[in-house]
Amino acid sequence: MNATDTLTLALSKGRIFDETLPLLRAAGIEVLEDPQTSRKLILPTNRPGVRVVLVRATDVPTYVEHGGADLGVCGKDTLIEHAAAWGGSAHVGLVEPLDLGIARCRMSVAVPADFDYARAVRQGARLRVATKYVAIAREFFASKGVHVDLIKLYGSMELAPLTGLADAIVDLVSTGNTLKANRLVEVERIMDISSRLVVRPAALKVKAAQIRPLLQAFARAVGAPVAA
Ligand code: PRP
Repeated sequence: MNATDTLTLALSKGRIFDETLPLLRAAGIEVLEDPQTSRKLILPTNRPGVRVVLVRATDVPTYVEHGGADLGVCGKDTLIEHAAAWGGSAHVGLVEPLDLGIARCRMSVAVPADFDYARAVRQGARLRVATKYVAIAREFFASKGVHVDLIKLYGSMELAPLTGLADAIVDLVSTGNTLKANRLVEVERIMDISSRLVVRPAALKVKAAQIRPLLQAFARAVGAPVAA
């Protein structure tokens, strides 16, 4: 139950959780359990009225939108794909008041080192592109006028060109080590990605007294303005 006097923040384990902790600390909030050692999915904090729920990154917008959490942190990639998947149906929406500038990476096109991507594009070839990010990939290639057959995968995109499943991938790149280890090269940078704070508009109204100070503290900690 997500009571009116409890603030619930949805986070995903890993980089987003780790990089959100210092921001919570800046707002005076300490998470009291470590997801590395605890199997709990609801983590208490030092503030009785604030708790963290651990969900998959792609589920963060859904939790926030439908009231399982009041606010959450997720990548811009996740937000774009979520909006594209649900854009046509009746949904209450999310506000994105703050770019936290954490979990930075980029969305890129990569191909095997021996694949002449520029030539294929020049010749108007139809490319088979494997990705988890179909909305971003579709929009990008459409804007370039490149014909693609998109192949939806849920992970290990790097494997697709190596097995002949696809000519190219669209995936997140951070250090570039995963591409390198699989002899892939980055040929296009589609967009820079960072994690955003998302809030349910109704929560922003009903729980303004709890959410506003948190937003201000996060904004101060990351040196960015609040946009809602
Ligand atoms: C992402 C991405 C790449 C990797 C890139 O995967 O899909 O595989 O990170 O990082 P690098 O450039 O630093 O090597 P992630 O670990 O987030 O897991 P996922 O495959 O579940 O998305």
